[in-house]
Amino acid sequence: MSDTDILDRLSAHRLVPVVVLDDAAHADPLAAALVDGGLPVAEVTFRTAAAAESIRAMSARGDVLVGAGTVLTVHQVDEAVAAGARFVVSPGTSRAVVERCQEHGVLALPGAVTATEVMAALELGLSTVKFFPAGTSGGAAAVAALAAPFGGVGFVPTGGIGPGNLAEYLALGSVRAVGGSWMVPRDRVNAGDLDGIRELAAAAVALVSG
Ligand code: 3PG
Repeated sequence: MSDTDILDRLSAHRLVPVVVLDDAAHADPLAAALVDGGLPVAEVTFRTAAAAESIRAMSARGDVLVGAGTVLTVHQVDEAVAAGARFVVSPGTSRAVVERCQEHGVLALPGAVTATEVMAALELGLSTVKFFPAGTSGGAAAVAALAAPFGGVGFVPTGGIGPGNLAEYLALGSVRAVGGSWMVPRDRVNAGDLDGIRELAAAAVALVSG
C-alpha cells in the first residue's frame, strides 16, 4: 500500500489512538476492542519494550491499520517495519528517521510545529506532519496559522487533545486526523478493561461522525 493509501485511510478514520503497551499480551485484545468500537487504527509507541511485539501481534490480525509511534532512531524504524508497521510517527523531524522510512517505502509522519520544521519536512518530500505537542504549541489556532502559507500540507495534531477539544481541530481543512491517548488509557489497557476501551473508541467515532 502506498503512502497515499495509508494517508487516505488515516484521513478516513480521522482518529489515531496512541497506545502505550506494557505487555504485548494486551495487544491483540486491545486491537479487537478498537475494531469492535469502529476504530481499526493504532499507533503503538516505542516507549516500552513491548512495542515491536505488540505491532507484530496487531498487524497479524489483518483488520487493523497499525503504525509505530515515538520512533526516534533508524533502528526503531527497522524494528517497526519488520514487525509490520504501515506508518511511522515521530515527535520531531529527523532526516535520518524519515529517510529510513522512505528506504522501506513506509509513510513517515514526523512532528513539526514551526514553519521551519514544516519546511524541513517538505524538503524531505513529505506532505503531512504530526503537529505535536498540539495543546502546548498553540492548539487549533496555531495549526490554522501554520497551514496558511503551506497550502496542501496536512497536519495530524496530537498531544493534549480529547473529546472536549477534538472538534476544534477536525474543523480545520488542513487536519487529516487527530491523534491521542484518551481513547486507549494506559491504566485501562493494563487492567484489561476492553469494554471500556471499546466504549471510548465508539464515543470518539461518534464525535467524529456527529
Ligand atoms: C503522543 O505520543 O503522540 C502523545 O503522547 C499523545 O498525546 P496525549 O497523551 O496528550 O493524547
